[in-house]
Amino acid sequence: MLYELARSFLFKLSPETAHKLIMDNVDWAVPLGLVKLIARTPRESPVNVMGLRFPNAVGLAAGMDKTGSHVSSLGGMGFGHIEVGTITPRPQPGNPKPRCWRIIPAKGIINHMGFNNCGIDQAISNLRSADGFKLRGGILGINIGKQNSTPLSGALADYVECMDKLYSLADYLAIDISCPNTPELTKLQGADELDPLLKGLADKRKELEDRDSRRVPITVKISPDLDDDAVRRAADQFVQYGMDAVTATNTTLSRDKVKGLPNSDMVGGLSGRPLFERATAVVRVLSEHLKGELPIIASGGVMTAEDAVAKMEAGASLVQLYTGFIYSGPAVIAEAADAIADWQKKNAQN
Ligand SMILES: Cc1cc2nc3c(=O)[nH]c(=O)nc-3n(C[C@H](O)[C@H](O)[C@H](O)COP(=O)(O)O)c2cc1C
Repeated sequence: MLYELARSFLFKLSPETAHKLIMDNVDWAVPLGLVKLIARTPRESPVNVMGLRFPNAVGLAAGMDKTGSHVSSLGGMGFGHIEVGTITPRPQPGNPKPRCWRIIPAKGIINHMGFNNCGIDQAISNLRSADGFKLRGGILGINIGKQNSTPLSGALADYVECMDKLYSLADYLAIDISCPNTPELTKLQGADELDPLLKGLADKRKELEDRDSRRVPITVKISPDLDDDAVRRAADQFVQYGMDAVTATNTTLSRDKVKGLPNSDMVGGLSGRPLFERATAVVRVLSEHLKGELPIIASGGVMTAEDAVAKMEAGASLVQLYTGFIYSGPAVIAEAADAIADWQKKNAQN
């Protein structure tokens, strides 16, 4: 009720203004306990994924904290993991504004942000404030990408540079090759492009593992717009090169579910409720194909606790949300985490 009131105010602002307002205030509002008025804390329900212990199965998807500045406060709302980024080697402004639109009747968002972020060096400094979250057992994922201006042939070098400097800070790294708003990025999912990219990532990780005496797991984030055969083929390549998980999925270019609605013809990636079916179908395809060889991190259209459980039923090990947090408010975090914990308990008994 209280969040619905806040949301009706926030939805009068442009999505980016609303986002900025939240981010500017979250660092005092959460420590002061204001979030407790609208959301409870999830039960401790740890899950082990990629060799890491997550305090619960629900995390914040990449894109909300693009600069890694608010990890502890966002974590204070109950997320078991926070994925910051996408971070690129150097700061970049992203695409021209406006570049984010709500599709309210469908509970969707179209974003054309284009990896606006502060670059590696500033992110390293920002991420010092993540220590509180990590000390409480929260898991920090760092999502990395290529600079908009980097041609495809230079993409690996950008990922390698990000890995080199961010490795020590990350509990896990997420490789974003599926954002539709960065020129040519999604082409990296093609069989011929993926092979040298994954080999380069695996080689770099080996070097960093020796340097830091610590193996940081890597997940690769894929697009819901790949067809099922391409999903299976990419999954085989992830296994071949020793990746630790696959994140399914990023936003979609499809407008099938929002045709004719206001803002539906805006350019960018669609997230939220209209993405749920396809993103969940990709989780199912991966799960049936991988048969447990790699865990799946599900992202796409989780608006309720039932949606989160449906992702687990499709074969996910962790669930992330972004758009659901905007539409449903922070209460959805504990509701989803506790519903998954109950579902796991029931499954273990059967
Ligand atoms: C405004 C906005 C910005 C996003 N930025 C990123 C990003 O920088 N990197 C990334 O991997 N995904 C990004 N995403 C995608 C989300 O991480 C998530 O995968 C997608 O929105 C589907 O989940 P959802 O339906 O719960 O929002 C962004 C999504 C939104 C709505």
